[in-house]
Amino acid sequence: MTIKINAKQVSMRFRDRVLFHIPELVIGPNDAIYLKGDNGVGKTTLLKILSGLIKPTTGKLIPPSRSLLSRFTGQSGRKDVIYLHQNPYLFDGTVYQNVAYGLKFQKLSPQEKRAQVINALRLVGLETIADEHISVLSGGEKQRVAVVRAWILKPSILMMDEPSASLDQESIDRIVELSKDLLARGSSLIITSHQSNALTALCKKQWWIKENTLIESPLLQIVKSTTYENPYASTKLN
Ligand SMILES: Nc1ncnc2c1ncn2[C@@H]1O[C@H](COP(=O)(O)OP(=O)(O)O)[C@@H](O)[C@H]1O
Ligand SMILES: [Mg+2]
Repeated sequence: MTIKINAKQVSMRFRDRVLFHIPELVIGPNDAIYLKGDNGVGKTTLLKILSGLIKPTTGKLIPPSRSLLSRFTGQSGRKDVIYLHQNPYLFDGTVYQNVAYGLKFQKLSPQEKRAQVINALRLVGLETIADEHISVLSGGEKQRVAVVRAWILKPSILMMDEPSASLDQESIDRIVELSKDLLARGSSLIITSHQSNALTALCKKQWWIKENTLIESPLLQIVKSTTYENPYASTKLN
């Protein structure tokens, strides 16, 4: 299943300061969006609004934001929207426990669960440290655990907030692979970053928060005027 989000007249104000006002935005099915802008323009705030974590000062989201976050779709355990914080919260436990946590709503035998988690960890090159405590991991490894924990839930939309800040090349490459896989399954991605990199290169659209609103960058216009074939769109989520 894919979902689409339509937001109208969304604005955010902190006391007297208007952070942004966005007349309209749409996240389409199987979208890949690079959200850029200088520090402090409101990228994180916008992602939190779009994922239902915080309410905008004005504006409306369709579907309503409260129904987006943490909504599980049946037995599959898939989430509709996952917002991945820049410094993801990992709980006190092993790498395995952190990733397996996402599968707790699924009816899986212990063996099936173990196989799924190890398989997922293999994709990010962490299967050999599955039983290590999270505290011994490097920053890049922790970030990979956080991304794989989101990936295993097969979200319809994954929002990654500055995922590549201070990451080593291997971690970026691994996260790129997981992101490609999500796109191939029909999911959508939004990636914030203040500079372009291998992850933002996956995106077919650019949103730019500038002068208190959201604009399409010139690159987006160029991309739009050429026919874009999504190389990952061969299979769809069911
Ligand atoms: N809860 C809040 N109360 C007051 N100001 C906030 C709050 N959350 C964010 N801000 C302010 O809004 C601005 C945008 O923050 P943020 O969305 O984190 O920007 P970005 O992710 O683009 O760097 C910052 O100046 C920040 O201090
Ligand atoms: Mg931010």
